[in-house]
Amino acid sequence: MRPAPITAAPLIPARPSLPALREAAAGCRACPLWERGTQTVFGEGPRGARILLVGEQPGDDEDRTGRPFTGPAGRLLDRALEQAGLERSEIYLTNAVKHFKWEPRGKRRIHARPVAREVAACKPWLEAEIRVVKPQVIVCLGATAAQALLGRGFKVTGRRGELIPSTIAPFLLATVHPASILRAPDSETRRRETERFVEDLRRAAAAGRTRPAAAI
Ligand code: URA
Repeated sequence: MRPAPITAAPLIPARPSLPALREAAAGCRACPLWERGTQTVFGEGPRGARILLVGEQPGDDEDRTGRPFTGPAGRLLDRALEQAGLERSEIYLTNAVKHFKWEPRGKRRIHARPVAREVAACKPWLEAEIRVVKPQVIVCLGATAAQALLGRGFKVTGRRGELIPSTIAPFLLATVHPASILRAPDSETRRRETERFVEDLRRAAAAGRTRPAAAI
């Protein structure tokens, strides 16, 4: 029989709170990515946030600051949130993988996409964050986040912007990753893609304002 894959599950505190989870995750070695990252970049935002955003993994900036979405993709995200009528401080922001995965290119550290095994190893942290925050809507930014929560066969292109009822949270909504907008080939495409992204965030914001079914 194959040994069970190593995940962060045994590290989840018996009484999880956001500070307790953050502290436990700081020492996570469930996959080899901790060896290269400067630090664990845990999620941030209030418990009880109506919207929880999941990215892929911290980038170069986030690895240094220790906070999610502080680099160029984060700045685009901040502007889009504002246009969608949302404040970053009212949202819980996190990533599917909590260490920066990179490869050296000269003096630069180039982002490398996490593999399924690394996403699975890190998933207990994401699940615990979701259980504590109890969001009304989870927004998955890009394929890694969407597939972490909706299964590896999930295609963002086919179901982008759809409010998907779920057992993890009342709704999940998958959209593109803001870094993909930064890679747009020209300014017109970037403008159009930003508009679509803002539209997806507006839909999530509207669903976030609805009360959970149990409370109606
Ligand atoms: N990209 C992500 O997916 N997450 C971050 O925190 C930063 C960039």
